[in-house]
Amino acid sequence: MLDVHRLTKLSVQKGMNRMDREAKPVPSLCQVYQDHFLIGAAVNARTILTHESLLTQHFSSITAENEMKFEELHPALDRYDFQRADALVNFAEQHGMKVRGHTLVWHNQTPSFVFSHSDGTARTREQVLAILREHMTTVMGRYKGRVYAWDVVNEAVSDADDRELRDTPWLRQVGEDYLSLAFEMAHEIDPNAQLFYNDYNETHPGKRERIYRMVKSLLSRGVPIHGIGLQGHYRLGQPPRDEIRDAIERYASLGVKLQVTELDVSTYAWNDQSREVQVQVQDARSQERQAQRYEELFSLFRAYKDVLTGVTLWGIADDATWLDNFPVRGRKDWPLLFTEDHVPKPAFWVVVDEATR
Ligand code: GLA
Repeated sequence: MLDVHRLTKLSVQKGMNRMDREAKPVPSLCQVYQDHFLIGAAVNARTILTHESLLTQHFSSITAENEMKFEELHPALDRYDFQRADALVNFAEQHGMKVRGHTLVWHNQTPSFVFSHSDGTARTREQVLAILREHMTTVMGRYKGRVYAWDVVNEAVSDADDRELRDTPWLRQVGEDYLSLAFEMAHEIDPNAQLFYNDYNETHPGKRERIYRMVKSLLSRGVPIHGIGLQGHYRLGQPPRDEIRDAIERYASLGVKLQVTELDVSTYAWNDQSREVQVQVQDARSQERQAQRYEELFSLFRAYKDVLTGVTLWGIADDATWLDNFPVRGRKDWPLLFTEDHVPKPAFWVVVDEATR
């Protein structure tokens, strides 16, 4: 069991000791940030039940972890399944939370019927676009006025320096204009929705410039794109603070809004793919280093609150995180602000302090 009340060096430095914490009511994270930006969490149909009290106390926005992805909403050409996505949207409405829609056009978790006939032959450009239009009309139409922002396109930019766009079925079968067409359709279907381009490794200088060039080119052609989502899957030491700041500055120079859409801070280095790790608890030293990292991140986010309209964590508490299975299956990680027992970690307290600094 995690010793969550263990005194850390950091909390001593900040003048908050164990007695203080126990005496002090836990403030609402989204309330302390209400003059800055929305505080979001990725949720699923299970965590809205198992993590209900943390969600309703601390978060002003939710994103569906999987429930609004193409294959979940639209598993067969003539069949939609809105049950779980509806449950999430209803939950948000009952509790006065906003909903980010995630995601309409992506190369993952998209069924093969979008690109091929049942006999395996490829669909034409026009057929793929007709399916996309029908999908977007149905999905965005259903949640019009209830989902305030959509990640219209996710992860379209290449990680490799020798090409601009990722090689995907969307690109191969539709052509480069799948990007502008997707944003134009989205705007036509829900003119009030804020439309985002979302990506990972978004602070890496080479990829940052590719994302910048792509969004700049869309904007110069009048394509309705309102924001860039920085996924924010970070680690204790990476990427460096200055690299994150440079990315925020560069994207903000385009005149679009920014959101951190999938924030977590893994306790493992990126290149640590060891399967031998037997650690079962996050010790005080790791909690302290992570708190310092969260402090660094939120001080940066606060400094850019004029362009940054939301920070969404990719999960709620350390008992339910995708990082338990990525990149090493079954290896425990502790990337979030609340322990496996749903108690605020040192990182939570420094993030609260940052709001009022
Ligand atoms: C990407 C996607 C998310 C999620 C994470 C990993 O960042 O945008 O929807 O799948 O990977 O869980």
